[in-house]
Amino acid sequence: MKEDFMQPHRPQWKSRVGFLLAALGSAVGLGNIWRFSYLCYKNGGGAFLIPYFCALICVGIPLMILEIGLGHKMRGSAPMSLAKVNPKWEWLGWWSVMFVMFGIVLYYSVIISWCLNYLVYSLDLKWGSDPNAFFFKDFLSLTRGPSEIGNIRSNILGALAIVWFINWLIVFLGIEKGIERANKIFMPLLFVLTAILVFWSVKLPGAREGIRVYLKPDFTILSKPGVWIDAFSQIFFTLSLGFGIMIAYASYLPRKSDIVLNVYCIAVLNCMFSFFAGFAVFSTIGYMAYQTNMNFKDVIQESIGLAFIAYPKAISLLPFLPQVFGFLFFSTLFIAGISSSISIIEAFNSAVVDKFHLNRKTVTSVLCLLGFLGSIIFATGGGLFWIDIVDHFLSHYGLVIVGILECVLIAWVYRAEKLRHHIDRVSDLKVGVWWNGVIKYLVPGILLVMLVNDVVYEIFNPYGDYPTVAIILIGRDWLLYSLVAAFIIAMRPWRKDIHFNGE
Ligand code: PHE
Repeated sequence: MKEDFMQPHRPQWKSRVGFLLAALGSAVGLGNIWRFSYLCYKNGGGAFLIPYFCALICVGIPLMILEIGLGHKMRGSAPMSLAKVNPKWEWLGWWSVMFVMFGIVLYYSVIISWCLNYLVYSLDLKWGSDPNAFFFKDFLSLTRGPSEIGNIRSNILGALAIVWFINWLIVFLGIEKGIERANKIFMPLLFVLTAILVFWSVKLPGAREGIRVYLKPDFTILSKPGVWIDAFSQIFFTLSLGFGIMIAYASYLPRKSDIVLNVYCIAVLNCMFSFFAGFAVFSTIGYMAYQTNMNFKDVIQESIGLAFIAYPKAISLLPFLPQVFGFLFFSTLFIAGISSSISIIEAFNSAVVDKFHLNRKTVTSVLCLLGFLGSIIFATGGGLFWIDIVDHFLSHYGLVIVGILECVLIAWVYRAEKLRHHIDRVSDLKVGVWWNGVIKYLVPGILLVMLVNDVVYEIFNPYGDYPTVAIILIGRDWLLYSLVAAFIIAMRPWRKDIHFNGE
């Protein structure tokens, strides 16, 4: 086998389950718990499940087949796999891992640190009777806007150091001994913890009303394009698509691997997890509304508020062991977050090792140190504003643009049929010709319409109430700087032992 011969030492997953759990660990993250529930609530309750599952079937699954198939066929990280398709496209791989590693994961790890802080606060319900004031004033010491950075929050900084240490430790230990082993512990634990939370909360008084709000469909909302855009970008985020992660993880698969069935398992289990976790969130909020006699609308504010304000408030009201409940809830978020953050560190890591042949452990250490330093900007008094802006731009635009270009490259430049042939050759479950058409027309078509719609809307209604300068400098330019960096790295020569002989 030509590719094997070229890279005799590429690490490999020890077992199929190991790969599945690692990919699932990347997919199931903070986004499944707070983001999904909030989006459901905001976008018509149960009716949101319609665009969500449409997005899963029309874009999520086909694109995941593409990414996993590509990584498996080319046996390389995102930049290497794309360069093997066509060396002119290497930059796309760098761009995706670049803005995710030095963008998404920087603020993502800060949110994991918040969870770590709140995990400790749960022990004595430190947020007291006003979790709103506690979160914004005492905990974040939120400034007036993104241009006012404020001070570094020492509690968050301390937790951040722990988060990056754990990230480092797991990735440093390697694919099999680190990532695979960690996920074999994390994933079952995560499912057990979530199940405990769900069964605990659905029994609370008022839970039924919460679930009714969660599932009651308001179909009128489906005519709003924003709802569809939310569903599609949530699918990208939740399945870690456009991150370069699935490509890298698939490159560690053995030659004979059932790609198609693996994709179905990851995608379906991930979305079922979100749906299931939603019961815990809404039952608890329902309980709070019941206890405080409040209207549901007043109970839930923005997305972050759901996990760090509404939920703590509900926890304090619990009649039985609220500390334990709080501890379980924030541990669940913490574990979900760590298993995702390690995946992008690995994706970047493998990209650097592939290209420059540097020592894996050194790269991991430098990367985690840079990650820790870079995260500090989000751990300041103005951090929440920065998180909000960067998240909006990277996950709304960055991921979607990468998705469109991946389709164009594979379907039109490389030819979808060629990749499908490879996937079918190694998989027990076959893809079917439908996939060619979907990757050629449907996915890029839908994503393009969505992107144009989003950009036009953005021009007339700049995101949030932020000053335009902040949006341009923090949001748009974050994407541009990472693009420039991607081009620069892509222009550097490859290590000597890699040859792109006509892949
Ligand atoms: N899939 C993750 C989630 O839903 C997103 C993510 C993956 C974020 C990897 C960072 C790194 O939370």
